[in-house]
Amino acid sequence: MRNFAPFDERLSVWTADTMKTLFGLGESDIKLGVSPTNNEKFGDYQCNAAMELTKVLKKAPRQIAQEFIDAAKRPDFVEKIDIAGPGFINFTLSNTALAEHIQSLESDPYLGVEQVGQGQTVIIDYSSPNVAKPMHIGHIRSTVIGNAIDRLYRFLGYKVIADNHLGDWGTQFGLMMVGFRSFVDEEALAKAPVEELERVYVASYNQSKEDPSWREKAKSELVKLQQGDPENRALWERFIKLSIEEFNTIYDRLDVKFDLYRGESFYNDRLPKIIQSLENKGLATESDGALIVDLEEEGMPVCIVRKSDGGYNYATTDLATVEARIEEFSPERIVYVTDERQQLHFKQFFTIAKKLGMKANLVHVWFGLMRLPEATFSTREGNVIKLAALLDEAEVRSLEMVKSSSPDMPEEQQKDLARAIGIGAIKYTDLSQNPQSLVTFTWEKALNMEGNSGPYLQYAYARISSVSDKYATKYPDTHLDQYPITIEHELERRIAIKISRFPVAIRAAAENYRPNILADYLYDLAQIYSSFYQNVPFLKADEGIRESRIRLCRSTAAVLRQGLNLLGIETPERI
Ligand code: ARG
Repeated sequence: MRNFAPFDERLSVWTADTMKTLFGLGESDIKLGVSPTNNEKFGDYQCNAAMELTKVLKKAPRQIAQEFIDAAKRPDFVEKIDIAGPGFINFTLSNTALAEHIQSLESDPYLGVEQVGQGQTVIIDYSSPNVAKPMHIGHIRSTVIGNAIDRLYRFLGYKVIADNHLGDWGTQFGLMMVGFRSFVDEEALAKAPVEELERVYVASYNQSKEDPSWREKAKSELVKLQQGDPENRALWERFIKLSIEEFNTIYDRLDVKFDLYRGESFYNDRLPKIIQSLENKGLATESDGALIVDLEEEGMPVCIVRKSDGGYNYATTDLATVEARIEEFSPERIVYVTDERQQLHFKQFFTIAKKLGMKANLVHVWFGLMRLPEATFSTREGNVIKLAALLDEAEVRSLEMVKSSSPDMPEEQQKDLARAIGIGAIKYTDLSQNPQSLVTFTWEKALNMEGNSGPYLQYAYARISSVSDKYATKYPDTHLDQYPITIEHELERRIAIKISRFPVAIRAAAENYRPNILADYLYDLAQIYSSFYQNVPFLKADEGIRESRIRLCRSTAAVLRQGLNLLGIETPERI
């Protein structure tokens, strides 16, 4: 095992091994969890193995625990082992081991996080808005949550392919073509392309309802596009280009980057082949002229893979996409991030992909739609809030805060800071909740300097870095590293243990696709740090202790910086 694996891991492995030898157990008998205690009284970690083993060993849990303690040769990072309550085994870590652990992390760019993803590829399909339509709240959340998952997997050493699976194909393009040719206002298009394209679409759609010849025209333009007519093709490409340009301005503001922008159209040529395979395997049947896959056995409604007019469906494209991705990238898994309304779609096509023998782990990460109380956004229209306007508002509100807290800062700097705080606040609100729970957005919560918010954590980070700076000014000739980290005070222990658990939080957040696990961790860390800072002297402590505390403080800052970065949140040095 790695020398500086988190204590959770080292304790679990050691306890399991010891129990196995001591009681002659097989692999499967041992279900034990070592977890942090929530009260120092019970040591730092606890294990419930004795209770779990009562049945197998036919002994009382306390007796099992006692035999374990008597026989076990404590590893040197453990100071003592006790029994508590019905038979909990409690571990207290040694202060020296803790200090050495934190010291060793100082030189590790991954802060103790193991590169478990090395040699493996993960495709993350996120954001994926539809061309010529504004992003709705679902796309925004997909962008922010998907990007955090993307960053987490990269940090774990995976090769991540961030793929923006744009909705760039479908029957709406017929209406778009005729609508564009009749209604477009080039000036409006230059100013706000997606908005204008959407307006054109709606106008064309309305016209089609009243005018059958308009409908016919749209249909024939669509067929021309599908057959590769150069003029229609060029217009369609223009829609895509304009849309992507506008989406990119948002991605830039959010610091989100994609490796691929492969829309649905990229997979067009493969669709007939997918239908062919489904038919060859006897998975597809005709029904009212359409081709369907029956999923009754799986308890799902039928999935249409080809409409009666010969058009293909969303599921067909997604099947072709999986096939293409496997061929080109051999991913260990493919992760899709969308809102909850697409759960059935993903379940259906995952099932069909499996029936077709496609070999990849397919994961749908879904989230609830954020609730936006009336009057939250001045710019809200129907269900579409304009993301750009939301970000603008966040920056304006943050700028007010910055101006009142740092009136003397040069204006450019104030603006820059406000941008980092505003965007960070929006992202953190999104990422700090369980993605599947209903989130209600309020500015008070998002920008609350005292509560669990982005600005609170950014502020905590800035405060910590300023401590290191104050130290450097006061003791310009001392090299911190000449003094070892020492751990004695209870608060030093708590902060050291928390820092040592960074990898546990990262792993859990990534494996469960829940960035909020990392957000919770960072918030806890900031709170522990704050009581550390308030209750023990730093700069005024005796030489040696002072340096050790500054080093702990520096490590805390490194973890906060890295952690926030994995959530896509900037960490200004000064707030
Ligand atoms: N374009 C779709 C939408 O806006 C989301 C696509 C998600 N990715 C996928 N491979 N189906 O609803």
